[in-house]
Amino acid sequence: MCGIVGYIGNREAYPILIKGLQRLEYRGYDSAGVALLNPSGELNVFKKKGKVSDLTSYAKDKDITGNIGIGHTRWATHGEPNDVNSHPHYSQSKNLVMIHNGIIENYNAIKERLIKRGHTFLSQTDTEVLIHLIEDIKQHEGMKLGHAVLAALNQVIGAYAIVIMDKNDPDTLIAAKKGSPMVIGIGNDDFFIASDASPIVEYTKNVVYLEDEQVAIIRRGQELKIRNLKDKEITPYVQELTLELEAIEKGGYDHFMLKEIYEQPKSVMDSMRGRLHANEGEVKLGGIVDHEGKFKNAKRIIFVACGTSWHAGLVGEYLFEEFARIPVEVEYASEFRYRNPIIYQDDIVIAISQSGETADTLAAIELAKAKGATIIGVCNVVGSSIPRASHGGTYTHAGPEIGVASTKAFTAQVTVLTLMALHIAKVRGSITESRYRQMLYEMESIPNKIEQVLQLNDQIKRIAEEYKDRSNALYLGRGVSFPVALEGALKLKEISYIHAEGYPAAEMKHGPIALIDEEMPVFVIATKGANYEKVVSNIQEVKARRGNIIAVVTAGDKEVKKMAEHVVEIPETDETLVPLIAVVPLQLLSYHIAVMRGCNVDQPRNLAKSVTVE
Ligand code: AGP
Repeated sequence: MCGIVGYIGNREAYPILIKGLQRLEYRGYDSAGVALLNPSGELNVFKKKGKVSDLTSYAKDKDITGNIGIGHTRWATHGEPNDVNSHPHYSQSKNLVMIHNGIIENYNAIKERLIKRGHTFLSQTDTEVLIHLIEDIKQHEGMKLGHAVLAALNQVIGAYAIVIMDKNDPDTLIAAKKGSPMVIGIGNDDFFIASDASPIVEYTKNVVYLEDEQVAIIRRGQELKIRNLKDKEITPYVQELTLELEAIEKGGYDHFMLKEIYEQPKSVMDSMRGRLHANEGEVKLGGIVDHEGKFKNAKRIIFVACGTSWHAGLVGEYLFEEFARIPVEVEYASEFRYRNPIIYQDDIVIAISQSGETADTLAAIELAKAKGATIIGVCNVVGSSIPRASHGGTYTHAGPEIGVASTKAFTAQVTVLTLMALHIAKVRGSITESRYRQMLYEMESIPNKIEQVLQLNDQIKRIAEEYKDRSNALYLGRGVSFPVALEGALKLKEISYIHAEGYPAAEMKHGPIALIDEEMPVFVIATKGANYEKVVSNIQEVKARRGNIIAVVTAGDKEVKKMAEHVVEIPETDETLVPLIAVVPLQLLSYHIAVMRGCNVDQPRNLAKSVTVE
């Protein structure tokens, strides 16, 4: 999730751009850059890996004059974080520059076509391909820039929020958006462009939220013009901003954690974008293509991770054993690294990490690599230490996760692991074509099913109200839902400070059932599946001891409904995909309980977002 800013008017652009990028810092980034057109018509581009402060240090003795410019903070998706891959990017002639937030899925095919037409590229990014395409059309079709942008965007597949500046036209900025956010601020005699309103709100409250597949032609001192991709003029809908700055950064939510819970339909979609092709019956995971042979002959997969990522590994164990029929072990990285583990050269070690910087996980893969294993990373932060230390891998593309309690990263990790398990199963011939296809189509429905669960927020909030003052809680699940029980317990304890434990439901009679009384809420994942009847028996055991049951069930369930104090009904899905949906009510429950207890939800006590020390 990159940050974009643009300015055209009568003020100096540079300070507005820089302050705007600083406002967007909360979105997370690994590099930053600006492009300015100075009064002499010279186009100056300054861009650096690192923070905005690194950029300003670099640019302090440069020519930063000009009253038109664009700026960008990069959250890398294609290409490592480095100076060359930072935005803005030039067109072939270097007369056009562009910034971009999003993913162009078909950039490779376009790039090959442009290379054949003599284009040369400096970076590995999809963004550079798009600005080259725009100029190629402008030059060969003799179009104005605005129309060339329309024509190019009709050829691309993917998500974008772009702003383009033309060295030869100091009075115009072109902006366009699809699937990534963009706001245009309308000042007295200037325009502001940004990913959200936080860089704009101090200059003007009059904004236009560009809609998908719309192109804005912004001309100094003129009315804003908007056209759709069919070249039809659209009347701009100017709104007055009501949110204050801090609320804007959280997207109008009270906390980043809640924002990130609600982002999950999109983040799960983004983790599948360009990878899941259900109609073609394909899964494309570029980062493990070179290791398919290893997976084909693998005798063992070892997941190493910590915390929530370790729970994703437990789900991965079910998925890889179910579909790819490869034996799997799931290791706490902190235990694995000190246990002198037995590691074989044909082992595949998969490191799961949102931050890509967790010290124990990094040390675990260094140990495994030294013993000859193949290391695959499943991480969210492009270019972080763990992916750099891995032989291959797949980024989760969940976007920056600011809340310390991991939510959208978990569902993105499980999504990627599901795609990986299905793909490897196909490679190994361990899954029937019909089951494979059925899974791919069901994967496509998951974002919408998560959306449906988010509609239950008010009900979940009422349940939270009832249990917010309890001192303990138990979470139960069986099979692939056992890791969900662990994850639900971790969410509750880490942000509300209530002691909570997750257990395999069948383990109750081996001890935990001694804990059950009317003060102990028991949260159970009791969705339809092979173990359903057994979970129902476990619920009866709890009820017989006056325990409170709050169950996550498959929509329409009647049996558990008769027994439980509360049921949260989630849409039916394939049993192996239940974690992606069943975890959402537990995330919301822990969030609301923590808020009701006055806890610091986004920065819980004693915790850090990334544990980069042992
Ligand atoms: C989960 O909510 C916690 N924030 C924590 O357990 C986290 O999952 C763990 O520290 C691993 O972090 P990573 O995914 O960045 O490696």
